[in-house]
Amino acid sequence: MESEMIIFSGNANKPLAQKICNWIDMPLAEALVSNFSDGETRVELHTNVRGRDVFIVQPICSPANHHLMEAMIMADACHRSSASRVTLVAPYFGYARQERKSAPRTPITAKLVADLLQAAHFDRVLTMELHTSAIQGFFNIPVDHLYVKPIFAGFFTNIENLCVISPDAGGVERARAMAKHFNCSLGIIDKRRDKPNESDVMNIIGDVKGKNCLIVDDIVDTGGSICKAADALLAGGALSVRAAISHPVLSGAALDNLNKSNLKELVVTDTIPLTQAGKACKIITQLSIAELFAKAIRRIHHNDSISALFI
Ligand code: R5P
Repeated sequence: MESEMIIFSGNANKPLAQKICNWIDMPLAEALVSNFSDGETRVELHTNVRGRDVFIVQPICSPANHHLMEAMIMADACHRSSASRVTLVAPYFGYARQERKSAPRTPITAKLVADLLQAAHFDRVLTMELHTSAIQGFFNIPVDHLYVKPIFAGFFTNIENLCVISPDAGGVERARAMAKHFNCSLGIIDKRRDKPNESDVMNIIGDVKGKNCLIVDDIVDTGGSICKAADALLAGGALSVRAAISHPVLSGAALDNLNKSNLKELVVTDTIPLTQAGKACKIITQLSIAELFAKAIRRIHHNDSISALFI
């Protein structure tokens, strides 16, 4: 007999966890996920998980260290309470940008986090738009990797003279898939980064004159990359510049940068919740991934194909 499914949420994005449960038409399971007075994470599951198929919704977003610990401690509690399987639902997988040694004597945090999650007894991971797909291989447990393309593709319809732009060489595969969907041209920004969180546009590869450009990327953090890309594209003759970015990290001066930018529109998802200031930003539109994740969780639970979601 199939085991019962249970969904818990950490504190990283409870509204998303609730929306996913609404789509599945089941309640979010009760748990205390709080802190002891010294700041250590305190977890008590208020639902029996013995023999159950447990999903823990917890993007590894800011404060990433805290949310990562919450996820691991919740998994430990599930494991020690005899859950039959524990899946991390991390729509945003933080620490992914350090996925190789980009300079001497630097860490590979994506691999470290993968090891930590497995040590905490997660049995599988469900995530979306990893910084690079190869991170799946850092795990020795199954990783289901969802794509945002159907969500953005359904939103950006009827844009004439469209040109999809990758803001750097690393994002070309993602942007090419979107350009293929829209049957439009592809442009690439030659971006250089000498320091973390500071980027410079060097060149635009492709013809953007007279085009309505759509920058496609995984993360908008300080907003520097897309704001500078927008300036360069407009200087290169583009008619307008929009951006479709999966994960709204939006740290530091991001909102200030975006409010002053030449971007016409920034469309993001709810893998990471927006702050009040983020919600008030006039150029930002947030689309929900809840239905897609609800379908994926259902399929994992019933051992159905995930790739069938993207056909
Ligand atoms: C980097 O390779 C990522 O794909 C994003 O382009 C980057 O994280 C964006 O950062 P920011 O918004 O700070 O320029």
